[in-house]
Formats: sequence, structure tokens, C-alpha cells
Amino acid sequence: MTLQEKIGQMIQIDRGFIQKKEDITDYFIGSILSGGGSVPSSNEPTAWADMVDEYQTYALKTRLQIPLIYGIDAVHGHNNVYGATIFPHNIGLGCTRDADLVEEAARVTAEEVAGTGIHWTFSPCIAVVRNERWGRTYEGFGETPELSEMMAAAAVRGYQGNDLSDPGTILACAKHFLGDGGTTDGHDQGNTEVDEATMRNLHLPGYIAAIEAGTGSIMVSFSSWNGEKMHGSYYWLTTVLKGELGFEGFVVSDWGGIDQLPGDFASDIETSINAGVDMVMLPQRYEDFMLTTLDLVNNGQIPESRVNDAVRRILRIKFELGLFENPYTHRSYTGTIGSAEHREIARQCVRESLVLLKNKNDCLPITGSISRIHVAGKNADDLGNQCGGWTISWQGNSGAITIGTTILEGIRERAGAGIAVTYSEDGSGASGADMGIVVIGETPYAEGVGDRSDLSLSVEDVAVVNTVADSGIPTVIILISGRPLIINDVLGRCDAFIAAWLPGTEGVGVADVLFGDYNPTGSLSHTWPRSMDQIPINAGDADYEPLFSYGFGLSY
Ligand code: BGC
Ligand code: BGC
Repeated sequence: MTLQEKIGQMIQIDRGFIQKKEDITDYFIGSILSGGGSVPSSNEPTAWADMVDEYQTYALKTRLQIPLIYGIDAVHGHNNVYGATIFPHNIGLGCTRDADLVEEAARVTAEEVAGTGIHWTFSPCIAVVRNERWGRTYEGFGETPELSEMMAAAAVRGYQGNDLSDPGTILACAKHFLGDGGTTDGHDQGNTEVDEATMRNLHLPGYIAAIEAGTGSIMVSFSSWNGEKMHGSYYWLTTVLKGELGFEGFVVSDWGGIDQLPGDFASDIETSINAGVDMVMLPQRYEDFMLTTLDLVNNGQIPESRVNDAVRRILRIKFELGLFENPYTHRSYTGTIGSAEHREIARQCVRESLVLLKNKNDCLPITGSISRIHVAGKNADDLGNQCGGWTISWQGNSGAITIGTTILEGIRERAGAGIAVTYSEDGSGASGADMGIVVIGETPYAEGVGDRSDLSLSVEDVAVVNTVADSGIPTVIILISGRPLIINDVLGRCDAFIAAWLPGTEGVGVADVLFGDYNPTGSLSHTWPRSMDQIPINAGDADYEPLFSYGFGLSY
């Protein structure tokens, strides 16, 4: 390979920044991604497959015909694709404690991703989240290294299967290495100020498990460790990850992550590649990167042996994926996207992820003697809100953003003809019903946009609970949220309380629990704080007096 051909393999660009398709050939581009919401103009499975296959034809026009590897954030199902099956976000999956189910969810996601021609998901996020102010709390499985270990291995097995060259499998990417969930005050992309023993005991075990399960890639964290950016850390990326842990896959940087290093673009490239980054999610400046990296290697600032190592790692994975033999979409999977069979697995994930926190006088499950249920709250009939961020768009959106069943629709379906179900967003009209179900909580956000210093419920959410409770009927609260919120204003006003996290498209799974078709088994993946001043609060802390402990969860 020429040096240009090698450097091209280290480039990853977002599809939105490709100036002309010939550039894929001319710059020997090794990888393309779709960032959150970076979707083809017609967002449907065949259009995705056609788009990826077309990019692939340009890669195959190069002298060595090295195929592209296409990556995407399929972090709770194939979430950018309209009509795909959307699973609960990881915080909910952590509450299932069911590694086999998480493996199955990843297997199903892999089929949907493969059906669009994509080879690689930037998942699982195995952050051990220590401060719920963080806007990415829901992307991790929970607050303990045990959960991260158990679910990292399960997800990697599910995505990658037994053999990466099998058509329904995709490459996994454990992220974000290392310490992303431990930043001070939960600031996104912040500084993790802990000693090395804490880094190793809390944040590293998930990566050891992911590597043992065979993860082919790992993404670097935007965050710093005691002031040093992870993207420039030779110690963590090379000495620990590739040396001590023997990781043989490739390391990809995060979106523009090298730009956050001190210095100019040339020194960013020099520092990050010498630190151990193998593929750079630029995601834009590919001509600049090509020319600058050529100079850096020619001047001896980046040893060519480092480039060779990076390219060898990337190519080994491309071979293992079978891309040289089968560079184009396995169209037999395209029709499985959003299938009834896949949705059934997501529904099971919803059932198992719900955590019953309160159930006074056996208020739940709903029994046959009820004739009218009044449903209320802004999250009762809103598919986008129950899916959260990283759904269709990067930040997510309220409303009917894709195909699925809202919680209200699920309740209606399950109630059948015998029970009347009425609904008002503000709770009016509840009196006279036999039960009120109020669905409140957060609306979608992703990454730093979701950082919060105050996790109280909104005034409107508290008001709707009060309206329903004041009507004198047994009141159930269902909380839709990416993290524990401060619920003191409403917990005393309800008879039953369910933390439903961000369940995704299969809202009927919530109804299954309400009606007792599934006896709740979920247990908290996070300690539930009483107040903001208690945060950070985590299992194992001294003076641990939370509202609900890590692991808490009732059954009927
Ligand atoms: C996020 C990553 C994600 C990447 C690509 C970044 O902003 O931190 O988790 O994989 O974007 O969308
Ligand atoms: C992209 C995301 C990415 C983010 C980084 C967005 O424009 O869509 O994928 O994570 O930028 O800030």
C-alpha cells in the first residue's frame, strides 16, 4: 500500500460532509458514518441500503479495491431508520438484569442494521454513570461496574454473533473509553477527577468484559482524566488498552474529538495517532487530514510503523467482517426491519425494564372489576417522548416520529372492549373513573444538551398528578425519564409508581405490566436520590440514605 492508501483507511467522514462521491475513491476513504439524524432523503430501509451500496462502489474503484466500513449509532435498535424496532435505552435494559435478553436485543438490532447495508454500530455505551446530572445517563446500563461488565459482554455477543462474517452480524464498538460516566458534576465531555485505582475499579471492568467477548472496536471518550484529554492519552489507549489488555481491534476517535486537543490540526493528528487512535472520526476535513498526515509521517513526527499498525488493525476487521467477499447489503435482512418478531423482543425488554417503586394496597395490577380508566399526562400518548434522544434525529423529538405504540394505545389495546379508557393531557375528566394513570417525566435530549443542574419535575407534571389525585381515584404514576428524577412532590400523592425509563416503540409492554400479564421483575440500575444535594449518590457510598436503593424493585 502507498502511504496515501494507508492514511485513507484511517479516515472516517460523515456522509453529510462528502463533497462529491469521487472523493471516496480519490482519497481512499476507509470509513463513512451517519451521525445522529444523518439520514438519506427518503428515510426507509431500501434507500439506506441503496445509499451505502452506492458509496461502496466508489471505494471498490480504488486500485486495491478495499471496501468501506459504514458505521452508525444503533444504540437502542436501528434508531435512525424510520420504522425500525426501538428498544428501551440502556438504563432500562440495566434494570432487567437479564443478559440473555440484552444479547437477543443486540442480535435483532444487528439484523436490522445489516439489512440497511451498514456494518458497524457505535454501541454498546458501557459508561458507568456516577452522576445523574449527565445528559447521557440513559446511554449507560447503570451506576456499577458489575452492570457494565455483564451487559457489555452480552451486547457484544449479540451484535457480533459467533462469526463476524455471518451476514446478520455487525461490528460492535464499546464506548467511551475511559471514564465518560465519572466526570465532575456530570458535565458532558468533562473531566473525570479520580485516582487511577478508581478509574480501574469503576470504569475499566466493562472494557475487559467487552474485549473478552471479542469487541472489534472501541471509541475514545471526549472526556479528560485529571485534565488530560483521553484522545491524547498514550497511557490509556496504548499502554493499558492495547498493551496490558491485549486489545487487537481498532480504536476510533469520537466526533471531532481530536479537535479538542490543545494545539492546531497538525498537532491534534500527531498527538492522537501517536497516542493510539487508529481511525479518526473527523468527521469532515478529509483533504486536510490526508495532506497533513502525509507531512507528519514524511517528517517523522508520526512513525510509519504506527500507521502500519493502525491500518493492519482496521483491515483485519474488514477481513473478519467478510467485506472483501461480500461488500454489498445482505438484502434478505432488509425486510426484517420493524418486523412483528423483532417488536415482540422489544416488548419483552420493556416488560422486564419497568421498576415498580410503590404499590399501596395492591393498587396494581389492574383487575377485571374496573370499568373506566382515565389516562393523563404529556408522555401518555407521545411516541417520541417515550423513545427519547437518538431516535430518528440526534436529539430525538416529541410526537409521532416513527412507527410504534404509545403507552395510551397499549393500555387501550390491552383493556379491550370491557374497560373504557378516557384521556386528557391535563387530567381533567378523571373524576368518576375507577383509576387514574398519569404518565409524566422528561422530553427528548441527547449528550450535553441533556445536562441538568435540577432534576425536579416540571410544574405542569406536578399539576396533572394533583388534578387526578384530587379527583379521589386510585392514582398510578408512570415516569418516562432518562434517569431518576426528584419525585418528592408526587410520590405521596399516588398509590403506585412505575419507573419506565425510555421504553421505545413498544408501549404495549407497559400495559402488560399494568394489567398483570407480566409480574414486575425490574430492579433499579441507579440509586434513586431524595434531593439534588444527594447527587452524586451511588451504591457502596458511606452515609447511603437514598429514596430507593440501587437494586430496589417490587413485584405483585
Ligand atoms: C457521540 C458518540 C457517537 C458519535 C457519532 C458523538 O457525538 O459522543 O457517542 O457515536 O457522536 O454519532
Ligand atoms: C451529530 C451527532 C454527533 C454530534 C456531535 C451531531 O451533529 O449528528 O451524531 O454526535 O453532532 O456533537
